[in-house]
Amino acid sequence: MNNALEHLAIIMDGNGRWALKHRLPRNVGHKKGAEVVVEIAKAAKELGVKYLTLYAFSTENWKRPQEEVDALMSLLRQYLDRDLKELEDNDIRILFIGERSMLSNDIQNKMAELEKRTENHRSATLQIALSYGSRLEIIRAAKQIAKNVQEGTLSIENVDEKTFESMLYTKNIPDPDILIRTSGEKRLSNFLLWQLAYTEFFFTDTFWPDFTKEELADILKQYQTRERRYGKI
Ligand code: IPE
Ligand code: IPE
Ligand code: MG
Repeated sequence: MNNALEHLAIIMDGNGRWALKHRLPRNVGHKKGAEVVVEIAKAAKELGVKYLTLYAFSTENWKRPQEEVDALMSLLRQYLDRDLKELEDNDIRILFIGERSMLSNDIQNKMAELEKRTENHRSATLQIALSYGSRLEIIRAAKQIAKNVQEGTLSIENVDEKTFESMLYTKNIPDPDILIRTSGEKRLSNFLLWQLAYTEFFFTDTFWPDFTKEELADILKQYQTRERRYGKI
């Protein structure tokens, strides 16, 4: 069997529990988790993955204690300034999906700059979900459709899957072939609800900071043994 593998999505979970296991503060877990991102992004590219989408911060994560949110935002700033540079130098295009307006202005600017600088990179695409929530994404698309219908630029008969998809943050990106969630949790936590309709799911007990390229390669191998279905008979 030779299953197509274009797009891999990962819910990077378990930073907090990794820290607890090592009797370290949660923020150390987040820091360690951030380090793994660059390694896995490079490995995914080497393994032939064209699109990698990483769930880094959800709309629900804004409800975490302010102290933790602040620490995550300062880690993000550092990350945008420094760590992503390595991926940029690897000809990787970087994109962000999520509700940007909820992030502070300086972070929004850094994100826009990085997207601009890498827009012609073609070796692979890294899509980072930041302040992302799938229900909000779907509501935004529904509102946009209603607006277009109201303004007369779209007729109700022409509303189909393609039109709807063109209004999601992920427009122009193929749906994920594989979803991995680390840390043993088996739920989607508001991630890509529309886009994961026919994706193959893999769950591992490994906490994100311990996730390695060897484990990734192993999952991609297992994926090749799955019989894929796309809703057709
Ligand atoms: C994932 O790790 C990272 C973010 C959500 C920012 P968690 O912080 O959710 O770690 P656990 O689930 O508490 O172990
Ligand atoms: C999902 O993980 C979000 C990210 C990994 C960024 P959470 O740890 O926030 O999700 P729940 O709370 O376990 O559902
Ligand atoms: Mg978690």
